[in-house]
Amino acid sequence: MENPHDTIQLSCKGRCFDFPLVEGSEGEQAIDIKTLRARTGLITLDPGYANTGSCTSSITFMDGERGILRYRGIPIQELAQQASFKETAFLLIHGSLPTRDELTQFSEQLTDYSPVHENMRLFFQNFPPNAHPMGILSSMVNSLRSFYPEIANEDEEIKVTVTRLISKIRTLAAMSYKISMGYQVIYPRPDLSYCANFLHMMFDSTVRPYELKEEVVHALRVIWILHADHEQNCSTSAVRLVGSARVNLYAAISSGITALWGPLHGGANQAVIEMLEAIRKGGGDCRSFVERAKNPNDSFRLMGFGHRVYKTYDPRAVIMKEVCHKLLGALGRSDALLDIARELEATALEDEYFISRNLYPNIDFYTGIAFRAMGIPTNMFPVMFAIGRLPGWIAQWLESIRDPHWKLSRPRQIYTGPKETAYTPIDQRV
Ligand code: ACO
Repeated sequence: MENPHDTIQLSCKGRCFDFPLVEGSEGEQAIDIKTLRARTGLITLDPGYANTGSCTSSITFMDGERGILRYRGIPIQELAQQASFKETAFLLIHGSLPTRDELTQFSEQLTDYSPVHENMRLFFQNFPPNAHPMGILSSMVNSLRSFYPEIANEDEEIKVTVTRLISKIRTLAAMSYKISMGYQVIYPRPDLSYCANFLHMMFDSTVRPYELKEEVVHALRVIWILHADHEQNCSTSAVRLVGSARVNLYAAISSGITALWGPLHGGANQAVIEMLEAIRKGGGDCRSFVERAKNPNDSFRLMGFGHRVYKTYDPRAVIMKEVCHKLLGALGRSDALLDIARELEATALEDEYFISRNLYPNIDFYTGIAFRAMGIPTNMFPVMFAIGRLPGWIAQWLESIRDPHWKLSRPRQIYTGPKETAYTPIDQRV
């Protein structure tokens, strides 16, 4: 990784300092500044960390300029076409695709661990009716630590905890919906896939059995695979940063869920639908929303557009656009919001503002429409994202705890406040 002959020279206060150049397996390069402050007294200033590599990682490769995304080297397109979500989760977490035996064992464990402690139901019942499902999910995941034993750093126990979490997040999500609707909680069937089981647990009832449709299961599988990891994004960085204080896995994942909730991140899928609804209610005038998004004095942004890393079309959005189209076709449904989405996309993509800033639709632009067609309530869209992202968070957390040089994350700052100031007693203040 480090080439002793390649260095970057920094000239500062009349002195020169050499810093090693680090190269990743795909040729991407970084300056290793671990010794910068000790040697020069300087720190770097990089708000939003757009130029900062916080770790090395062998999990996911993405190239925002060329629109490439691969998990453990395998292109996302191949996984979306051929893999199951369980295989993808296993690949991310354990580093290679599972053998048949490994997959069978993993599937059985996912079914075995799916019930949650009966007392957790009381938590659900005590949230106010309009509580956001992401707030509920992050609290419930955090509380799992109290119900299930502390994780020792033994590989086998970690494996159990990780599988338990992947299984229980599905139960918790479906359960929160059922309880909020006043319906009976449904547990998974061992004969169904992870994705089919989720739909079964969400929508099946004794009064009205849910008919599983292949196209719906397929769409959900693809969505969850596409969401499964995205290297050091905001929520994953939250998991790593919080985890670096050596909190337990549940607490670290709970912080990831909270970060994902934000509309600039995983909450964007909900925000996209709300925006499309607003356009529809306003008579379908996409142009006026595009104009608002361009106005520097208006904080409104086109939700589902733009990405910190992709400066070309999000490769996940390319796949999602097609999946979404096929899903609606298979369900024999038309959705006025999909038509508005298409028009909005076309309007923005030929607008100089969006062209010059490399702003393209991201995955969230299409997932919301697919979730709507599946019957998922809008405020649960970010929860759907969280279930998909869980294997990635876990893989990144595992990678960090296994790093022998794992350090507490502690960025620094450039202070811009007042210089030393004397305390003013209260009766002398004006
Ligand atoms: N609508 C209008 N203008 C935008 C948008 C947008 N969606 N996104 C970026 N811009 C503009 C900014 O105003 C800025 O313009 P300026 O140069 O005139 O100041 C320029 O493009 C660069 O924007 P930044 O905010 O600096 O870009 P950054 O990389 O930090 O932002 C982000 C990425 C947060 C995703 C942004 O594009 C955004 O807010 N998008 C909408 C929310 C969204 O869809 N989030 C989901 C992201 S994908 C995911 O998390 C799964």
